[in-house]
This record gives sequence, structure tokens and C-alpha cells, in this order.
Amino acid sequence: MPDRRTFLKSSLASAVAALMGTGLAQAAESSLLGSVIYTAEHTGKWAQKEGSHAPEINVDGAKITIRTNHPMSPKHFIVRHTLVLSDGSVLGSKTFSGTDPEAVSIYELPKGYSGMLIATSFCNLHDFWMTETRI
Ligand SMILES: [Fe+2]
Repeated sequence: MPDRRTFLKSSLASAVAALMGTGLAQAAESSLLGSVIYTAEHTGKWAQKEGSHAPEINVDGAKITIRTNHPMSPKHFIVRHTLVLSDGSVLGSKTFSGTDPEAVSIYELPKGYSGMLIATSFCNLHDFWMTETRI
């Protein structure tokens, strides 16, 4: 039987892959949004938490910055960011600790890339959040 960490990792990867096929807008009817995966528009049980949990995506040419405006402390912090492309591939990820000063990660897009960008951010207390944008 897989441990909890392996289960969460594989479950979330499957959820992201499912959403990549449709985009978040079409997936709004999915039972995953607002129950397993949270967005600024689908906060579920975490209403009022979107400002400090939905990751922000800043595009500056090929440089992508993901920021989660969340306080960082050893007991409550952002655990991880990922940046996912249209084909479902993970361009990069960054794991944080509670002693990191902020949850910010930077990525470099493949040359000429256009399509969807999905940023994910996982809080150790408030679950898995996503934000998407198209470039
Ligand atoms: Fe949190």
C-alpha cells in the first residue's frame, strides 16, 4: 500500500493531467474543483483564502515567476510550486520549507512556447491550488 505522500503525489498528478485535457474553465463542472483542487474562483471550503493561496503567474518574456502571497512559518507554509505546460509536462518545480522567507519560484519557458501555463501551489494546511493563464 502506498504511503500517504506517494498517494497524494500520484492523485494530484492525475488530477492535473485530467484538467490539462480540458482547461480549468471547462473543468469547472468537474467535482475536483473546489473539493480537491482550489482556484480563485473555486475556493470550496477555503473561501477567503484565495488571496494567500492561489498562485500568481508573472510572464516576462520567457521568464515565468510564480508567487504565492502566503506567510511562511515552520507550522504553516507553502510546500511546493509546479509549472505545467499545455501538454501536461511539468516544466519545473520548487519545494519550500517553513523557514524560506517567501514562496517564489522562477522558470524559463522553451523557446517560442505559446499555450497554457498552469501554476500549482500546495499549502501544508490549506491544500492544493491552481492558477492558469494563456500566453
Ligand atoms: Fe495556508
